[in-house]
Amino acid sequence: MDILVVGSGGREHAMCWSLAKSKRQPKLFCAPGNAGISKIAQCVDIKAEDIEGLVKWCKDRKPGLVVIGPEVPLCLGLADELTKEGFQVFGPSKAGAQMEGSKDFTKKLLLENHIPTARAATFTDYEKALAYVRAQGAPIVIKADGLAAGKGVTVCETTDQAELALEEAMKKKAFGEAGSKVVIEEFLKGEEASILAFVDGETIVPMVSAQDHKRVFDGDKGPNTGGMGAYSPAPVVTESLHEEILDKILKPTVAALQRMGIVYKGVLYAGLMITPEGPKVIEYNCRFGDPETQVVLPRLKTDFVNICMAVAQGKLSHLKIEWDERPAACVVMASEGYPGAYPKGKVIEGLEKAAAHADSYVFHAGTALVGYKTVTSGGRVLCVTGLGATIQEALDHAYQAVGDIHFEGVHFRKDIGWRALTSGR
Ligand code: AMP
Ligand code: GLY
Repeated sequence: MDILVVGSGGREHAMCWSLAKSKRQPKLFCAPGNAGISKIAQCVDIKAEDIEGLVKWCKDRKPGLVVIGPEVPLCLGLADELTKEGFQVFGPSKAGAQMEGSKDFTKKLLLENHIPTARAATFTDYEKALAYVRAQGAPIVIKADGLAAGKGVTVCETTDQAELALEEAMKKKAFGEAGSKVVIEEFLKGEEASILAFVDGETIVPMVSAQDHKRVFDGDKGPNTGGMGAYSPAPVVTESLHEEILDKILKPTVAALQRMGIVYKGVLYAGLMITPEGPKVIEYNCRFGDPETQVVLPRLKTDFVNICMAVAQGKLSHLKIEWDERPAACVVMASEGYPGAYPKGKVIEGLEKAAAHADSYVFHAGTALVGYKTVTSGGRVLCVTGLGATIQEALDHAYQAVGDIHFEGVHFRKDIGWRALTSGR
C-alpha cells in the first residue's frame, strides 16, 4: 500500500518511522519531508499548505492512505478535499479542525457542554476587552483567537502586561487577523499535561500521557517555543485521572462535536491543567503534538498503519491498542537564536554515531541534504528520543545520543523531565 504523510517536522519523521515498521510494508511518501525522512520515505516536493498540489498528487498516485501531520492543512480543509475524492484520510475535516483553528469556537463548545475549562470571555472590540481586563485584574491570560504558530497566548502576571498584550494582538496586529478576536481567560494554577486520543468519529482511544517543555531555556525560562523536549508518561496523570479525563473531558467533547454534525477523525489533543479542582482544558489541538509524538509513538506496540486505517474507516472499536510500559523522553536540538531568527545551513556531525545506540532514536525536524551532508534548515533541528526502564534511564539514553551530535550554535535544554524526576511520583 502507498501512504502519503503530509508535513516536514520531527513529528512527521516519527510518524513515518512508526508507519514504516508496519507488517503491511507500506511504500511511504512524505510531502515535503526532510533529510531524515528521506531515508525511509520518498520525499515529494509539495508544501504542506499547498492543498491543490497535494490533491492533484493524490489523484495521480492514488495512495491507499493519507496521514496529515500539521494543523494548517487541516484548517485549510485538506481532509475534506481528499475525502471528497474518495481517499482514506487520517486527520479531521475543516469543521473539526476548528478545535484548534478557533479558540473562541472551542471555548464556546466547552462552556456550553459544561466541560471543565477556565472561565473566559471573547472580544472583537479593543475598548471592551480593555475594560474587561481592568475589571478582572491579573494574573490573566490573553489568547489570539486564530492560528498563531503557537505564539498567540500571553500569560500576564500584571494588568500592565495584559494591556500590552491586548494592544499587540488587537491594535498592532502582531498575529495578523488571528488576533482581531481575542479570548481573555482566567489564569489556572496547577501542573500541565497532554492527553492525545485517537478518534474515529465515535470511538475514543486515549494514548499514554505526555508532557512537553514549551520554554526555550532551562528552568522553564525564556520565550515559548514549539516545544524543547517531552516525556511520557506524565506522572501527574494517574490511572484514575486518565479515566476522569476520558469521561469528563474527551467523551463529552466528541459527543458535542457529533451533535454539531462533525465526524471527527484523527488525533484530538487535549492540553490540560491539573488543578486542585481536577483537570481543566487549556486548549485543544487537532493533530499529534510536536515533540509529544516523538515520545508517544516509540511506545506504541500496535501496528500504526492499522490504527490510521481504522480511524479513517470508523473501525477503531475493532482494535486493541497496546503500549510499551517503558517511559520515553525526547530532547530537542535547536538552532542558535530559536525561537527568534536563526542561521541555516550548519553542517550536522555525528548522526551515524548517535544512530548506533540501542534504545534511542534521532528524529529530524529542520534538516536538509546538501550533497551528502545533512545541514540545519529550521529552528528545531533534531529530536532525540530515548526509551528506558525509568524516565531517568530514558533521559540518559536520549542525552547520550545528543552528546554524539554537533552543529555550530546548537542549543538544547539540559533539564528535560525535571518535573517528572522531582515530583516523587
Ligand atoms: P496554548 O497555546 O493555549 O497551549 O497556551 C500556551 C501556554 O500558555 C500553555 O501551555 C500554558 O502554559 C499557558 N496557558 C494557557 N492558558 C492558560 C490558563 N488559562 N492558565 C494558565 N496558563 C495558561
Ligand atoms: N508541543 C505542543 C504542540 O504540538 O502544540
